[in-house]
Amino acid sequence: MIDAQGLHKQFGTVQAVIDLELHVPQGSVYALLGPNGAGKSTTINMLTTLLRPDRGTIVIAGHDAVRNPDAVRRVIGVTFQDLVLDRDLSGREALDFYGRLYGLDAATRTQRTKELLTLVELNDAADRLTGTYSGGMRRRLELARCLMMQPQILFLDEPTQGLDPQHRAMIWDYLRMLQQQHGMTMLITTHAMDEAEILAQQVGIIDHGRMVASGTPAELIGQFGSEMVRITANYPADYQPSWLQAEWVRNWAIQNGELRVGVDHGSRRIATILDGLRADGLQVSDMNMTRPSLGDVFLQTTGRALRDEVKS
Ligand SMILES: Nc1ncnc2c1ncn2[C@@H]1O[C@H](COP(=O)(O)OP(=O)(O)O)[C@@H](O)[C@H]1O
Ligand SMILES: [Mg+2]
Repeated sequence: MIDAQGLHKQFGTVQAVIDLELHVPQGSVYALLGPNGAGKSTTINMLTTLLRPDRGTIVIAGHDAVRNPDAVRRVIGVTFQDLVLDRDLSGREALDFYGRLYGLDAATRTQRTKELLTLVELNDAADRLTGTYSGGMRRRLELARCLMMQPQILFLDEPTQGLDPQHRAMIWDYLRMLQQQHGMTMLITTHAMDEAEILAQQVGIIDHGRMVASGTPAELIGQFGSEMVRITANYPADYQPSWLQAEWVRNWAIQNGELRVGVDHGSRRIATILDGLRADGLQVSDMNMTRPSLGDVFLQTTGRALRDEVKS
């Protein structure tokens, strides 16, 4: 349903998106994961015809997005990172206005507005001005707005940004329901790993405009060994444990005083790692073993922790 190849976008001297490729089959959810400034919004703006790529091809539900943007706009719904709701309209009026903009007749508008307000649990607040809504209510209304035209494909740019955990979980439930009950195809951008892991069948990790890893969450995590050994110690700034170049080591990184080693079999390797650290004269203060997460994948592929970027 979404097919992009060789996408490029440059703003002045900034290469915002570089040679990006992605494919999203019908009925599946794709998460584009990356830190602030990675190129996520630029990508979604090109896919939704708001921004013209410098190079590359985009085909959405069989329509070429550059040559035939109108056809693409008819089959997609988009929510933006910066909310565009008119604060002087009530929630009900905002949805009705949007439907009118797209030529829905009055009866259809009334019907859909009612259904969607129920779906996002805004019935009680439907007739209040959106200017009085909380952040979570505005996000939910924005989701309802993009569903007004019953799109086949949803594009959601950071749909849960700035929401508390309870409202994030609520949005996740809606999105999962839309996928499962309506077979909707979705592309979401996020800088939150848990969101990507929970919602998406396919994840692409983007950094500095480039796709640095992609696959199912399980595939991405699988590349990083079956277990992750984490050891806190007094590592010098330029510490290089050359003895970690062993065949059982999948990857390693040191961050914030913690060494993380992806290994084939944790309990078998811990003693070896501790011996190596002791031989290098280091004092171990803490250790544990976990399954790797998408956060570990991100750290390894970009050299940075994503959690530094999370504000919500
Ligand atoms: N309209 C624009 N003009 C100039 N630079 C831009 C514009 N939009 C985005 N950029 C730059 O492109 C890069 C990618 O931005 P963006 O796609 O918004 O990232 P993300 O959504 O992942 O945070 C950033 O360096 C950003 O400053
Ligand atoms: Mg963005």
